Amino acid sequence: MPFYTLGIETSCDETSCAVLKGKDEILSNVVSSSLFRHKKFGGVVPEIASRHCMEQIQCVFEEALREAKVRASDLDLVAVTRGPGLIGSLFVGVAFAKALAYQLGIPVVGVNHMEAHLVANFLKVPGTNSERVQEPVPMVPGTYIGLLVSGGHTMLTHCEKGKITVLGETVDDAVGEAYDKVAKIMGLSYPGGPVIDKLARQGDSRAVLFTKPKQAERFNFSFSGIKTAVLYLLQDPKTGKPKPGAPSTADIAASFQHAVIGWLVEKAIDACQFKGVSDIVVGGGVSANSYLREKLARQAAMNDIKVWFPPVSLSTDNAAMIARRGFELHKNGIRSSLHMTADPGLAFNVK
Ligand code: KG4
Ligand code: ZN
Repeated sequence: MPFYTLGIETSCDETSCAVLKGKDEILSNVVSSSLFRHKKFGGVVPEIASRHCMEQIQCVFEEALREAKVRASDLDLVAVTRGPGLIGSLFVGVAFAKALAYQLGIPVVGVNHMEAHLVANFLKVPGTNSERVQEPVPMVPGTYIGLLVSGGHTMLTHCEKGKITVLGETVDDAVGEAYDKVAKIMGLSYPGGPVIDKLARQGDSRAVLFTKPKQAERFNFSFSGIKTAVLYLLQDPKTGKPKPGAPSTADIAASFQHAVIGWLVEKAIDACQFKGVSDIVVGGGVSANSYLREKLARQAAMNDIKVWFPPVSLSTDNAAMIARRGFELHKNGIRSSLHMTADPGLAFNVK
């Protein structure tokens, strides 16, 4: 009998449900985004995000079952994002998951959203799209450096036999947040990551030289300085008026991207060498970035390091990765109780 896991993801502006067969076969992965509602604010508005999750969760769940051709009574496990994320959105998914598991008499397991981003690398890509179809699906390396790059987090982790240690993280903005804020400063649309990624291809990455932030801790990051530097390229800091002769937005985008991706790549390789590890697993929305994919792959190959990127379609928030992580936890005997609550600041390795 196949084992069916329902994944539920509502940590931010997406409402997603997925049905996973066994450990890596995605039968459905439905994502309803509230992005269009946040665009005019230039960032996610938590209240709008949680209301959207409340409105969408039932129909997204039903659609996920329909697409998967699975009935609710066929499900064996419910896996749900418990944190980190926005409390209002998280509550919707956790309450729904607990009620469903109770009704069906099946176990529920709470999942750490960031841990799930890493295991998005170890899922089969469904369909016949142009993305690489991993056959057979690669095995999770026993020890690896995790590079987590999203709208809320930027972290380097050391993962050994399932245990995750944080080596360093951002001291201010996350890298995705920096992309979004820099795009807003340049008058581009939200989310800024994909827009800058595309625009950068038309610009000159040597047009502006951004200063690398000095960090007391070897594996920490800082991205707020570069955001201010972009602002003052375009605006006079004293008068707030536009600066004449400022570089083009394409040149700024290319230079900004060259700088921040360069810092990520450099520290990820350094972390591998420091820990004597030969695999880097990348996860989070910014892992969709074309320049990061290209540059990290090149630098890693030069240092005999293997890099894992999730398929682009599984880089941003989705429930298939939550189902995969939940499946792993369940296999290791971990269950959550119906007293489980959402935890917006959930740490790693909390079961
Ligand atoms: O992981 P994610 O979907 O949500 C969070 O958990 O935060 O990441 C969203 C972030 C946004 O900041 C978005 O701008 C960024 O991922 N992003 C990108 C790209 N696609 C999405 N950043 C750079 N290049 C991209 N192609
Ligand atoms: Zn995420």
